[in-house]
Amino acid sequence: MIRESYAEAAGRRVRYLDAGAGWPLILLHAFPLNADMWRPQLDRVPGGWRFVAPDLRGFGPAASAPTATPTLEQMATDVTALMDELAIDRAVAGGLSMGGYLSMALVRVAPERVTALVLANTRAQPDTPEGRQGRDTMIDLVRRSGPSAVADQMIPKLLGETSQRARPHLPPMLRRMIELNSPEGIAAALHAMKARPDSTPVLSRFGAPALVIAGEEDTLIPVGDSEAMHGLMPRSHLVVLPTAGHVSNLEVPDDFSEALGNFLNSNI
Ligand code: MLT
Repeated sequence: MIRESYAEAAGRRVRYLDAGAGWPLILLHAFPLNADMWRPQLDRVPGGWRFVAPDLRGFGPAASAPTATPTLEQMATDVTALMDELAIDRAVAGGLSMGGYLSMALVRVAPERVTALVLANTRAQPDTPEGRQGRDTMIDLVRRSGPSAVADQMIPKLLGETSQRARPHLPPMLRRMIELNSPEGIAAALHAMKARPDSTPVLSRFGAPALVIAGEEDTLIPVGDSEAMHGLMPRSHLVVLPTAGHVSNLEVPDDFSEALGNFLNSNI
């Protein structure tokens, strides 16, 4: 059963979903979605585990617009504040894409609280100059035309070719999540991602277990980037999911949950 709750953490009211009981895995969502993207995994929590999925600052149905542009490190501090509130001392940190950038930021700001990493459809490198320009273009777009224009642009990129052809339930699901967000929340996250540092050094020093998940049809984060990230960490496992694009946990939810469950049960 998935529970939906609210916590006061670092002066913010945070919505989070959780399911199961036991060792915690914090699941951090992608841009520009919210905690609901993790429902398929929250529906299949392995025995002995508790999955907790918060809405990140500026995202989700309860979000207030951020008052200032946060850095990913500040967003990571939001996560540790929620962990404090939930009396979670240490956890596995897992994230997809932006959620992965944030998991790496968590290792930078509070390494002692991260027992293992799950990095799905994400990369260690910072934005390229063209990538940063693309962020500015999307910031203009969301300020001018709102979240639905961002949905128009992002949905085809989030889905692999198999999903675009054969999984018609996904575009409306993604659109609902994207359109719930505030334009300011979306713009703030774009600024934070644009300014993120290179996480290669922090991953090279990460000695705990890690699971890297890639989507074979992901055009935003090519499989090669995941292979490079996997190569950095001595205890990393790599899983490449067939017929999955960028939001692999939604596109092939059973395969994603199985890879996650196998990793948690045999490595932690
Ligand atoms: C995401 O899915 O979180 C985004 O594609 C990340 C990004 O734009 O770099």
